[in-house]
Amino acid sequence: MLSLQIFPHKGLDMNRERIDIIKLGGSVITDKTSYKKLKKNTLQDLIRIISIWDKKCIVVHGAGSFGHILAEKYSIVSGYQNKEQLAGLAQIRYDLNDLKQKILEVFNEKGINVLDFQTSALAYQKAGSADKEIFIAPVLKALEIGLLPLLSGDILFTDDESFTIYSGDSLIDLLAQNFDVSRVIFLTDVNGLMVTDSTSNIVKLLENASFEEFNRIEPADYSSEGKADVTGGMLGKIDTIKAILNNVDEIIIVNGNYPERIQKILDRDRTICTVITGRKSTKR
Ligand code: IPE
Repeated sequence: MLSLQIFPHKGLDMNRERIDIIKLGGSVITDKTSYKKLKKNTLQDLIRIISIWDKKCIVVHGAGSFGHILAEKYSIVSGYQNKEQLAGLAQIRYDLNDLKQKILEVFNEKGINVLDFQTSALAYQKAGSADKEIFIAPVLKALEIGLLPLLSGDILFTDDESFTIYSGDSLIDLLAQNFDVSRVIFLTDVNGLMVTDSTSNIVKLLENASFEEFNRIEPADYSSEGKADVTGGMLGKIDTIKAILNNVDEIIIVNGNYPERIQKILDRDRTICTVITGRKSTKR
């Protein structure tokens, strides 16, 4: 029997090159308030830049309105409660495939050899453990031979609750534990992390922070940019970002609605965004 574990795979180059992970946030590629509404122009702009990325990368996309609306309606995050939820599970997977197909189409238009993987078929959570397991070998092999792997936030099957929602951000944490990752770039719909300065009380963009500085920021110091839901969204990310920082050089949070900013990140120029230095960085 094939065990769902990470194992040294014969023929894979374990001295592999470092990669970047790019997250296409659901809030930037879809209209989160409108069921299954894609922001096609934004998606095209973002994939145009990803198509000239200077490093091998894995792209992870969020679900946006192709996932969150039904996930909430069917209480998927709470796990199995009743059989009515199964219709929700099936529909969410169907809708995620729909979104993925739309994303693949744009990659294909750009002539990129992208290959999609279904997260819920690769990852699992065993009883009594917060850790997830992922069968990484196919993704590793695809990357190694020059394909661009595309994964997403998804449903996660588990021993204890039967299923839950697995965010693309948590998946990135798991990938960062298994790949040699340089940068993680979160393409979101905010300019970065907004923080209240404790002395001046002024809310400003956190431009740079070391791992230690980031860990010292109190949750109450994070602020919104006038979008009530966004603070919740970003706050929910903080713990995952902290975990990812253990295994990467840096994390960048940038507004995907401004493609020129992402181009600047690719060109290693300064731009409006948040850069947090990870534990692995040699620049520290
Ligand atoms: C959520 O993934 C997955 C589902 C709801 C099925 P994410 O949490 O990564 O999606 P976004 O980026 O917030 O939309």
